[in-house]
Amino acid sequence: MGATGQKQSLVSDGRCIVEAIDLTMDFRPKKEKSVRALKGISFTAGPGEVTGLVGPDGAGKTTTLRMLAGVLRLTADRIADQERRMVLEQLGQIVPPDRYDNAMHEDYVAFRDEQHFPQGQEVTAYRARKGSQPVAVILRFDAVDGYNGPIRLLVGIQESGRLAGVRVTSHRETPGLGDAIDAARSDWILGFTGRSLTNPEPAGWAVERDGGEFDQFTGATITPRAVVEAIQRALEFYELSGRDLFDKPAAAPPEVAP
Ligand SMILES: Cc1cc2nc3c(=O)[nH]c(=O)nc-3n(C[C@H](O)[C@H](O)[C@H](O)COP(=O)(O)O)c2cc1C
Repeated sequence: MGATGQKQSLVSDGRCIVEAIDLTMDFRPKKEKSVRALKGISFTAGPGEVTGLVGPDGAGKTTTLRMLAGVLRLTADRIADQERRMVLEQLGQIVPPDRYDNAMHEDYVAFRDEQHFPQGQEVTAYRARKGSQPVAVILRFDAVDGYNGPIRLLVGIQESGRLAGVRVTSHRETPGLGDAIDAARSDWILGFTGRSLTNPEPAGWAVERDGGEFDQFTGATITPRAVVEAIQRALEFYELSGRDLFDKPAAAPPEVAP
């Protein structure tokens, strides 16, 4: 039996009760070929929400719940592998692997900066280097003003201060309205690549409705506004102190609970 993925219960900030990321389960009945019961199940359940699992017999509903309840234990080394794979894949979309030669997914620091990353959140900064020279930093943090809660972003900033790329890695925005921030749904988020604090000028760093340069979505201005503002604040942070990140000692690898 092999189970991978992550589950978290976050109640202290009241934003998320359960977050399941990429749950996968293989059962191996005695001496038989393994059977994949779950593949890549991800979802969040917020406080006060009723979350249902709908599917035919054999879809994996009970297995999902048993994994969340801890009845089926996740294997620590498999979780670590899975986590590494996901992080590498996501980071590689922003800074292509041929641009750096360090183990970027292990070369990270964590910090807080209320002015640029509000609500006391912890920001993770992955550092890309080539021949020990700084290439880019990828900041993982939340845009806190989404319509349905936080929007998790990866914001890649080249050493020069230009955006290497931006991706949304999780959100709960409404399908068909706010979810166009997701690269799987539209190209909107790709339009930030190459931008910087001076491109556009500060007044342009807003959605069109607010006089800026970035498209909003029909009937859904709140979501793109939150993302644009969060990216601008990340660039402002980088301008002030982002280059210092390259000099900080790397954080210890996170402990993964069995
Ligand atoms: C059920 C429902 C879901 C909505 N989901 C979103 C959303 O995910 N993102 C968003 O920006 N606006 C969403 N809206 C619309 C906002 O309430 C708000 O009207 C809109 O963001 C303002 O944009 P506009 O100025 O372009 O109309 C939703 C509205 C309703 C009724």
